Amino acid sequence: MSVLMVVVAAILVAVAAAPVLVMAAEYSVVYYGAREGGKVDAAGAFQAAWAAACGDGGGGMMGYRPVMRVPAGTFLVGQAYFSGPCRSAGGVLLAIDGTVVAPPAVDNTSWIMFHYAHGLAIRGGTLDGQGRSFWACKAAGRKCLSGTTTLDISQSNNVSVKRLTLLDSKNVHVSIFDSAGVTLQAVKIIAPADSPHTDGIHVQLSRDVSILSATVRTGDDCVSLGPGTSGVVIRNIRCGPGHGISIGSLGGDAGEKEVRNVTVEAAALTDTQNGLRIKTWGKPNSGHVTGVRFAHVTMRGVENPIVVDQNYCPGNINCPGQSSGVRISDVVYEDITGTSVTPVAVKFDCSGSNPCTGIKLRNINLTYDGKPAQSFCKNAGGSASGVVSPASCL
Ligand SMILES: *[C@@H]1O[C@H](CO)[C@@H](O)[C@H](O)[C@H]1NC(C)=O
Ligand SMILES: *[C@@H]1O[C@H](CO)[C@@H](O)[C@H](O)[C@H]1NC(C)=O
Ligand SMILES: *[C@@H]1O[C@H](CO)[C@@H](O)[C@H](O)[C@H]1NC(C)=O
Ligand SMILES: *[C@@H]1O[C@H](CO)[C@@H](O)[C@H](O)[C@H]1NC(C)=O
Repeated sequence: MSVLMVVVAAILVAVAAAPVLVMAAEYSVVYYGAREGGKVDAAGAFQAAWAAACGDGGGGMMGYRPVMRVPAGTFLVGQAYFSGPCRSAGGVLLAIDGTVVAPPAVDNTSWIMFHYAHGLAIRGGTLDGQGRSFWACKAAGRKCLSGTTTLDISQSNNVSVKRLTLLDSKNVHVSIFDSAGVTLQAVKIIAPADSPHTDGIHVQLSRDVSILSATVRTGDDCVSLGPGTSGVVIRNIRCGPGHGISIGSLGGDAGEKEVRNVTVEAAALTDTQNGLRIKTWGKPNSGHVTGVRFAHVTMRGVENPIVVDQNYCPGNINCPGQSSGVRISDVVYEDITGTSVTPVAVKFDCSGSNPCTGIKLRNINLTYDGKPAQSFCKNAGGSASGVVSPASCL
């Protein structure tokens, strides 16, 4: 396509960007050859549209944000790597009206990747990971690859994702890695309850991440926070089925950075394996979790509503009898109510060499089978106030 045609193809739209009205060019994937229908791989067209939008600096205009558009319809994309940094001051807006579908083929990396995409905004649309045949490979116990993350945002600052739907990922749905200032709002993530490793959102080595008004129903963690994560706010989340909201696993490797300043509030967990979990390997690797607040959470039919497990050792390989080197301190549980489907609704199973400190329980009411549930403490210190049922064992 000639440069002239590209310029003609770019439709000028008005984008309200305070304080002035900025005209931003729009780059539709269709102009770069993408064909609706879900039959022809449009990865090349998507990447060409990205390259054009990312290369459009708008003459250095303040707040300028070119638009890459995926119109209504179904577009097949094999694998897309969107790399920045981009020229415009305001990043690129990816507006998705339609559905982007992955091919059933699998590899070990990611499907839609954004690296160094500072200021990126994604709005609307659906990313369908087409995981079914891959899950079948796993279920049959065949030798399969490790699977593909659907949306991978790495090394990117100041990113906002709104009203995006993600379906049936082959692996983690959204991965936020080595990034700062990321907001996910009204994101919906759906995969079958028995689909393997289909975590909703995984955050690692990142700071200032907000997950607001999310709905996550998958076969693994709704949200998991890995090492090196701080300044996380998860508010107004509906989670389940799935494995709940998890900090960890931590301490699986040496030299992991701490998890600090995490707030989870206004969460509804339904039919999940865990509710609010902190999980560390039963290995001496160091690490630290501190400054965590879980508040205003309702549980319905949750197996392990409140759980700290410092003895994670899947398959009992290489860790039995070892003690976790991860320190857990200053964790607050406030206004947590609902039902457990196992008798022990509150479990603090902390490390013998690094007991949990500063755990606070306030206004807890978790029942099992219509009666008060039980709590379990090992190597756990802290305090309780207000009405706490099951009674605190701290
Ligand atoms: C983040 O992006 C918004 C919108 O593009 C912009 O107004 C703001 O200045 C950016 N902030 C930083 C710290 O880059
Ligand atoms: C993909 O990952 C699997 C499991 O983690 C590994 O055994 C395999 O060697 C990897 N394959 C490739 C092509 O990277
Ligand atoms: C904790 O994280 C929030 C959200 O990112 C941030 O606003 C706040 O300043 C952080 N607090 C501390 C003490 O770091
Ligand atoms: C806990 O909630 C149940 C069910 O709503 C209620 O019947 C019970 O009185 C509450 N217990 C306490 C200690 O508040």
